Amino acid sequence: MSVIDKIKARVSNPLIDDSEISTSVISNILNVAVCTSVHYNTDPWRFLVIQGNARVRFGEFLAKRAASEMADPTDSINVAKLAKIKTKPLRAPVIIVAGAAKSTNPKSRMVEDLASVSASCQNILLAAQELGLAAIWRTGAMTYSDDVVEYLGFEKATQLVAFIYLGNPAKHCKTKNRKSSEEFTRWLSE
Ligand SMILES: Cc1cc2nc3c(=O)[nH]c(=O)nc-3n(C[C@H](O)[C@H](O)[C@H](O)COP(=O)(O)O)c2cc1C
Repeated sequence: MSVIDKIKARVSNPLIDDSEISTSVISNILNVAVCTSVHYNTDPWRFLVIQGNARVRFGEFLAKRAASEMADPTDSINVAKLAKIKTKPLRAPVIIVAGAAKSTNPKSRMVEDLASVSASCQNILLAAQELGLAAIWRTGAMTYSDDVVEYLGFEKATQLVAFIYLGNPAKHCKTKNRKSSEEFTRWLSE
């Protein structure tokens, strides 16, 4: 299959089993991730691989911060919500957190570095698909919170872009009929 056909066939797959993924496979994927175009060679890509018990601790952290924003975290509805939040990181054996570091280059623009990191996330999804793995890019409000950046040990001013859940597929997802680019494109010729 050509690269073009592979890109067209890519789909997110949230149906992931809990079997482990080797470090070498994850490193291989991350080496594909950094093959993106980047302005001023800022090398903005920052990745954190969360696996094993670190997922449990991350879930506890997320539940604790969610509880701190609730008027009454002991209310039965909130207790159920918090229990759900706690288990969210357990939906895959591996979570790759991708962020864009703030460059010290005065010419750089965060929006361009975010674009480069976003491209690296697409590379991750494509590499995962090529390797027969399931992957899905997730975000949510936590992506844009300084306390999460700090908890995960990213440098200050890093902007998170994605929590990519990765693992072996529990089930395969069907390819999709995509929209035509015509809908989104204007052509200027003269
Ligand atoms: C920036 C971004 C944020 C996303 N956040 C979520 C999310 O929080 N939860 C989720 O289930 N999917 C999330 N997705 C995945 C999309 O919803 C998913 O890609 C979409 O359903 C289309 O599927 P496809 O990847 O198969 O084209 C996100 C995708 C992007 C690009």
